Amino acid sequence: MADAHTAGPWDVVCVASWNADLVSQVERPLRKGETLMASHFSIGPGGKGSNASVAAARQGAQVALIARIGDDDFGRMGLRLWQSEGIDFAHVERAPGESSGVAQIWVYADGDNSVAVCPGAGSGLQPSHADAARERLEHCRVVMASCEVPLAVTERAFVIARQAGATTVLNPAPAQPLPDALIQLTDVLTPNETEVRLLAQLPVNAPVADAAQRLLARGAAAVVVTLGGSGCTLYRPQQAPVHLPGQTMAVVDSIGAGDTFTGALAAALARGESLPSAMVFANAAAALSVTGAGAIGGMPTLAQTQALVLTAPVEPVLR
Ligand code: RIB
Repeated sequence: MADAHTAGPWDVVCVASWNADLVSQVERPLRKGETLMASHFSIGPGGKGSNASVAAARQGAQVALIARIGDDDFGRMGLRLWQSEGIDFAHVERAPGESSGVAQIWVYADGDNSVAVCPGAGSGLQPSHADAARERLEHCRVVMASCEVPLAVTERAFVIARQAGATTVLNPAPAQPLPDALIQLTDVLTPNETEVRLLAQLPVNAPVADAAQRLLARGAAAVVVTLGGSGCTLYRPQQAPVHLPGQTMAVVDSIGAGDTFTGALAAALARGESLPSAMVFANAAAALSVTGAGAIGGMPTLAQTQALVLTAPVEPVLR
């Protein structure tokens, strides 16, 4: 018999990456050829897809994963996490003899970070994995993915989900050139400032608005650009951009803040919020996420997010 976590229908299905995060605290970015002494080291859960899924689950969404992990200790760490967060992992394939994804992360004194990902078993996700999870994709409200998984599986999942009437959300991180077909299958793209320029193939100092407009012209239904501590801005065709200022928080580290934004946005859309209103929740959840250590340490519950939205409201600004 299906348990509470695999009974469906699902609010959010994630085509997910899973990584064990190996996090070192160093004073500043390393130079080529340099050895720096780290002041702290930890191993914890990560991967943009898993992170966004945990964020959505903590916002109250019923979440299911499509993922691939190694049959190793890091993979078992993922299984324990999803079990404890109430996430359905029936469509997580365990690949014997393969390593799970790993991310080496350097966190600097100012809370910023750099990440190198080796996706391991996650790179073996294929369109057939989306086909195998068709039932979940056809009975969910939102499907989300990042660019840490092969684009072909995301594209197939989005095709199935769109045909069944679900909303698709793509966090285009790490940024890479995206085919028009995938952009056209995306209802909400959630790049950060760097990623939006890269996706639009514009120079690093190009206006964010120009980059977002280019992605709309290529067929994205909406682009929400995350701006770190400065909030986020929504761009839609033929409408004035809507900017939401950021919340001022005491930053421990910003690992997973973008993933929290995407997961909380997906959860809010799944419970029927409009996109501007979902942004308010995502903005607040992402702000809270930087107050804890590691990718999921600061990820808030829905109640904590609602409390911040009520006690420190930020007003949307038309631009
Ligand atoms: O966005 C943060 C995540 O990026 C980390 O958890 C790491 O695993 C990489 O996927």
